[in-house]
Amino acid sequence: MAHKLAFIGFGGVGQGLVDILLDRSDWLRDKFGTEFQVVSITDLYKGSIHHNDGLDIQQARKLVKETGSLNDYPESEGLVKGWDSLTTIQNTNADTIIEITYTDVFTGQPAIKHCEEAFKNKKNVVVTNKGPVALALDELEELAKQNGVRFLYEGTVMSGTPALRMPLTSLIGNHITSIRGILNGTTNYMFMRMEEGLSYEEALKEAQEKGYAEADPTSDVEGFDVLYKVIILAKVVMGESLTKDEVNRTGMASVTERDLNEAAEEGKKWKMIGRLEKTEQGLTASVAPEKVDEEDPLAGISGATNAVTYECDLSGPVTLIGAGAGIPETGFALLIDLLNLDRDNQ
Ligand code: HSE
Repeated sequence: MAHKLAFIGFGGVGQGLVDILLDRSDWLRDKFGTEFQVVSITDLYKGSIHHNDGLDIQQARKLVKETGSLNDYPESEGLVKGWDSLTTIQNTNADTIIEITYTDVFTGQPAIKHCEEAFKNKKNVVVTNKGPVALALDELEELAKQNGVRFLYEGTVMSGTPALRMPLTSLIGNHITSIRGILNGTTNYMFMRMEEGLSYEEALKEAQEKGYAEADPTSDVEGFDVLYKVIILAKVVMGESLTKDEVNRTGMASVTERDLNEAAEEGKKWKMIGRLEKTEQGLTASVAPEKVDEEDPLAGISGATNAVTYECDLSGPVTLIGAGAGIPETGFALLIDLLNLDRDNQ
């Protein structure tokens, strides 16, 4: 039987997943016995289409690429146009809702509401949206459990690089005492370009053009994006709940051109670091630019690449390096969750 999907939001990440599904559908079916069928797509700006028997995603993808809208999707018997997000979640026959609207760093809405509505309607939810996971994970997991469905969120930290599943599976049995990493591609790219002589504004413009930055780049440069990822890592990997106010946050603008030059003379690098440390007093968490030594594994991570080091009491430190943003990479993060959902249900 097909695994039916509904997309809530259809920006780059959703289109990235659709491209993977179009490219690999035969292989996914042969290898995993899974047939994914998209029944609903709804987007605040691009419009909304639904069909119980499945949409022609090639056509939808082409239309969005060429016209930026789903409005010209051909009419047919059973096709419904114009449902908003909540109407889609309530009425779609999808098994799984893919929540990929933008992250509101202050309220987590409307994504949290979308997840709640999906669970009440007995649908799994897969997100790359950090808001619901950072702000409401316990409540949402409880609601999912009550309704016999699942909530998966691998792509919320380091896109398709398995920053959450790897420590939970491959590093299982260790006590992880600290997590430290470069968890934002935009700021890491900007520091690199500023070291090469660009101004802050020029570097930010480039990061936006390359698609690394959030819809509102304040979230990247002021450290909210990393703050959310730190909260998610604390909860998911260390089992510790943190509120936004418990994470000390400093934005990258505190680093001046002079600081960058000084670091270069000392053979050091400025990096935006997310940090979690278990101490006798409890868990401490911060997001701040730090001047790191040349021999630190994080010093060599340049451009939009991310890296995270897990300090493990049995295996020793393990550093995971990989993409932290990007369209195919984040689309792939959704695929990891979908395939795991199917595997767990088999
Ligand atoms: N804006 C984020 C980054 C994207 O630059 O890393 C992934 O959260």
